[in-house]
Formats: sequence, structure tokens, C-alpha cells
Amino acid sequence: MKILAIETSCDETAIAILETSGSKTKPVFSLLSNVVLSQIKIHKPFGGVVPNLAMREHQKNLVPILTTALRETKMLQGKKIKIAINSKRRSPAENLDIKNILAREPVLLKALEGFLKKYEAPEIDVIAVTYGPGLEPALWVGINFARALAAIWKKPLIPVNHLEGHIYASWLRRTDKKIIAPRFPLLALIVSGGHTELVLMKKHLAYKVLGETRDDAAGEAFDKVAKMLGLGYPGGPEISKLAESGDPYAIDFPRPMMNSNDLDFSFSGLKTAVLYFIKDRNFLDEKFLSKADISASLDISASFEQAAVDVLVSKTAKALKKYKVKSLVVGGGVAANKKLRSSLEILIKKLHPEIELYLSPLWLTGDNAAMIAAVAYFKALDKKYAKPATLKAQGNLRLK
Ligand code: KG4
Ligand code: ZN
Repeated sequence: MKILAIETSCDETAIAILETSGSKTKPVFSLLSNVVLSQIKIHKPFGGVVPNLAMREHQKNLVPILTTALRETKMLQGKKIKIAINSKRRSPAENLDIKNILAREPVLLKALEGFLKKYEAPEIDVIAVTYGPGLEPALWVGINFARALAAIWKKPLIPVNHLEGHIYASWLRRTDKKIIAPRFPLLALIVSGGHTELVLMKKHLAYKVLGETRDDAAGEAFDKVAKMLGLGYPGGPEISKLAESGDPYAIDFPRPMMNSNDLDFSFSGLKTAVLYFIKDRNFLDEKFLSKADISASLDISASFEQAAVDVLVSKTAKALKKYKVKSLVVGGGVAANKKLRSSLEILIKKLHPEIELYLSPLWLTGDNAAMIAAVAYFKALDKKYAKPATLKAQGNLRLK
């Protein structure tokens, strides 16, 4: 089965084509194409993602990215003139269909009409799309694009939760060219810019949220602390780069809720502690950072990162103690963090050597459509299709 997946929940426009076979327990995946276009440069001057700009960029980028993905997989086939005439005769109803579906995305509609005139329908079996959580204006663009393609190509449509995607990125991990699948029951730690959750899965596509953040997400805290230090967006990679040269125990930042009895998280107190530390030192008023300030910002980054990682790892440890699982799966943008990765490796090695650790492959920690396609395979095996007419963006969609 060939799955075309579309992801537009935030500031990455992404399309992947995944070839799939095998059973639920022994799936075989071959990622034929994985195109991710980051809008970071466009949002950077604003210090965060601007929903309307994201929506505009997704509209502009989806058709070029689709073309690239199909070309990479050799599925882009130009129309022969004869067929073009035939399809013109057939097209009024179809054209009306996509005109209705993409009524709110005129730029995308125009690009898609151009594409459909030029190219044959590719040999895709299923179309998958992220329908939440995320920025609704951004999600809608991907959803309507997926609906239009499904209508034109007459293919089933599979809606995927973005957070499921971050978990299933670990199914695309390769070891010696073989793909080894996590086993159930499993614990998943999702750490991204919008979410921090511990999730228990007893089987495919069934989720029990054991704990989550009560305020900021882990990635959000990295982004906000980076802003305080005058670093660029997104802040996670910048903070962790500085942290490598700092002392993680120079400043004793709080570890909120680390010892609470539940599996919830809180990062806003940690963020505020960093803010007060910086303000106390007049750090923000300085036009030019002195040498001392530069070394302070290294220590602040390292000590903040250590505090955040300590909380994430200790709550994961608590969950592993309570729930007997076979695999620990870690995904989301913050899963790229080296300190988090190595600390989790140590945790498993020391306390739970029987548990298999699946850290999302680095190239799939950030947002992408390959992970959406991986989820869609298991949904396709169960024929969990959406009714295209009623599929809606759900900004606050939860795992269940
Ligand atoms: O999963 P993702 O790409 O988008 C969301 O679904 O939110 O996650 C983005 C988040 C951002 O907050 C970014 O700062 C953070 O992941 N991030 C990191 C690192 N790389 C990205 N945080 C800490 N360390 C990193 N190396
Ligand atoms: Zn994400």
C-alpha cells in the first residue's frame, strides 16, 4: 500500500510517501519520499509562529512539495494530450468539487488546478492528513488539500492526530536496514513545542494519557528561555548548543512538580525562575553582553536544560516503575535534545535494562509527514477512514 501523507499543523509544510506492507506486529515500511519545508525564516522576525502567515505559506508550498515528492518516487507522470482532452470532458463536476473544497484557499486551488491539468493521478492508495492538534488556520489548509486530492483521485482519507505521529515516528527507526517495531504495552513520552505527555499504549492506536503539563510545554519553555537570552526562534536547538559549554549545576533552578505523586508536569515556574535570575542581574538591560554575561548565559542555558531534563526523566522513571511496559518510545521536537536522549539511555540501562528504548530518529523528531503516514498504515489496516465532508480541523484534539 502506498500512503501519501500531509502535515501542516504548525510551521512546517510536509508531504511524505510511504510504501507499506506486512502485519500490524511486523510492518514493513519503505519511506519513498519525505519532504519538509520549514517556514522558520518567515516566522523568526516575530519570535514565534504567526498563524496567518503559516496558512499563507502552506497554501503556496503544498503543490510544489507534492510535485517534488511524486517526482522523487517516480510517480509524477505528465498527461498525454489525448488523455488531457478526455479528462477535460470529464472535469466539470470534479472541478466544481475541488472549487467548493478549496473555496477558502484560492492560492492553493489555482496551483492544484494547474497541477491536475499537467499530471496523471499517481498510484497512491490512501491519503492521510493531520487534523489536530495545532494551529487551526494551518491545519485547515492541509485538510482541505487532502480532501480535494481524495475527491479527485477517489481515494480514502485517513485523519491522524499529530501526537500519534510523534509516537509512531519510532516505527520508522531502522537498524541495519531492518525496521524494528516497539512492542506493547509501551510508554510514550511526547515532548514538543505544544505538548508534554506521558502516554500508555496497550495496543495500536489506543492511548491513555497518564500525565501531561499543567501549563507550558517543555519545548515552549526552551523557546521562552531562549527569547529571554536574546537567542533566535526556535529556542531549543540554540539553548542546547550553548548548554554544551556551560555548567549544568552552576545555578540551582527549581524542578517544579518533580516529586509530586502524579505524572503531571509544570514548566512555567522554571521559566519564571530563569526570568528572575536574568532580571536580578540586569542581564536584559545590557546592550552588549560582557564576557562575564556570555559565560553566565552558557551557565543559564546548561542549568535550565538540566532542570528541564531532570523533571522529564524523573517523571518517566516514575511511570516506568508503576506500569510494566516492554518499550519506551520518545518523540517530538524536544526528543532531539542530546542531554534528554543520553539521560533516558542511562535511566533504561541502570534501572530497566529489560525495556527497549525507542528514541525517535533525529531526522524525525521535528514535524514531518512520514510519521503521519506511519500512523495511517495501522488505521488503513482497520479501514479507519474519515468522511471527507465532515472532517474538521481540531486545534485542541487530544489522544484517546
Ligand atoms: O514537534 P515539534 O517540531 O513541533 C511541535 O509539534 O510543537 O517541536 C518543536 C519544539 C520547539 O519548541 C523547539 O524549541 C524544540 O522542539 N526543540 C528542542 C530541540 N530541538 C527542537 N528542544 C530542546 N532541545 C533541542 N535540541
Ligand atoms: Zn510536532
